[in-house]
Amino acid sequence: MKKVIAIYPGSFDPPTNGHLDLIERGSKIFDELIVAILRNAEKSPLFSVAERRLMLENLTSDYRNVSVDTFDGLTVDYALRMNASAVLRGIRAISDYEYELQMALMNRKLHPELETVFMMPAEQFSYLSSRLVREVAQLGGSIKELVPEMVERRLREKLDPAIKLQHARKPKAGRR
Ligand code: PNS
Repeated sequence: MKKVIAIYPGSFDPPTNGHLDLIERGSKIFDELIVAILRNAEKSPLFSVAERRLMLENLTSDYRNVSVDTFDGLTVDYALRMNASAVLRGIRAISDYEYELQMALMNRKLHPELETVFMMPAEQFSYLSSRLVREVAQLGGSIKELVPEMVERRLREKLDPAIKLQHARKPKAGRR
């Protein structure tokens, strides 16, 4: 039987518990799920693509059928290269719908064989977005329960100059 491969494209800057919730749901219905981080030179992200990839690889290491990759160019072209037949996207509220519908229909126009599958994250994540997490963290608010502990730690390290300084002062192993 043909394996159903899906890609889950996004910025993931940073990955949130909402993303992880969707990855878990997607891993249950697809044979293979590829979390695909968009490499977009135009944006100025908080985390580099390499940092996001490392975080997502760690966070999804327990799922046998989930892998993490990066891509640029059109999502449909990437999906084609990966032999994927579906694009997974999350819809949190009605406000997401218009943008997601537009993207799904444009992707369908570009590649009619590729299906977009929308899934809803758990209700407690329905207001959650990477942008809000970044903003709250940057302004000193708590992001506990919104992102995995590892992401919270990485955010704190990135945003707290004192922690950054400590890291910079640590001597590198093997060097004097
Ligand atoms: O997490 P995001 O930022 O909502 O993800 C948006 C993403 C990466 C899915 C979208 O911007 C995208 O598909 N970009 C790749 C370029 C592309 O295919 N553009 C046409 C989309 S209709």
